[in-house]
Amino acid sequence: MSDYSFEISRLYDSVPLYATRPDVQFYVEEARSAGGNVLEIGCGTGRVLIPTARAGLTIDGVDTASGMISVCAERVASEPQAVRDRVALHESDGRHLDLRKSFRLVTAPFRVMQHQITIDDQLEFLASVKRHLGRDGRFVFDVFNPDFAALVSADGIEREDTPPTSLPDGRSFRRAARVKRVRFVEQVSEVEVIYYVTASGEPEKRFVQGFDMRWYLRDELVHLLARAGLRVRSMYGDFDRSPLADTSKEIIVVTELA
Ligand SMILES: C[S@@+](CC[C@H](N)C(=O)[O-])C[C@H]1O[C@@H](n2cnc3c(N)ncnc32)[C@H](O)[C@@H]1O
Repeated sequence: MSDYSFEISRLYDSVPLYATRPDVQFYVEEARSAGGNVLEIGCGTGRVLIPTARAGLTIDGVDTASGMISVCAERVASEPQAVRDRVALHESDGRHLDLRKSFRLVTAPFRVMQHQITIDDQLEFLASVKRHLGRDGRFVFDVFNPDFAALVSADGIEREDTPPTSLPDGRSFRRAARVKRVRFVEQVSEVEVIYYVTASGEPEKRFVQGFDMRWYLRDELVHLLARAGLRVRSMYGDFDRSPLADTSKEIIVVTELA
């Protein structure tokens, strides 16, 4: 399971690689075409959830990490009343969710499915999705399209991916990442993201977020979803809805009940 501690959850929204991801408009468009009534599983700090609610659409957000959901709750609390009224948050594991409510759209943006490591995790997660999907509902999610050259050459060396960056509270941080090991048989990369945080007059603090990332192949997703009673409607290779190709960075999947 992912390791989003309170400290790391506080840094999430200041990471430029996350803040500049081109997926928000895509998920807001999906929510708009569903007409609201969205469930986002793995909503994190609200990076997608808040713009969805600001666009006038109702959304329930679920996350298993207390740090992430509490940052999300703080951010929602600072929104105008009309936006707040469109949001409900739940701290819960998406694999065992039962809100006793169905939704027109269920989403898992930014690689949430890659935190579901084993086949049992994935089937439990997808069973939750199905439990919450209305008759004509859709489940939309994204995972990265595996870059085999990068997987084979993973060397465990820490490389900076974020230069020194200011935080809203006056501190600053820089960040590095490394792939410790790739377990090819399990299709899992062991990742570490390392944050170096500096506050004036204090020694630099090092926070390590270690997690496994399960990577998927396109046809594996089609089979997995079919086992869970879901059918693929469309697959894209980018958030501009271009077709999935060998060079695509993303696999974006739109599904419906089979
Ligand atoms: C990369 S973040 C994405 C957050 C948000 N969707 C976004 O786009 O910024 C992945 C999130 O998924 C959550 N997560 C992973 N597995 C989960 C599960 N089984 N149930 C609920 N949340 C989960 C993590 O706690 C984390 O907040």
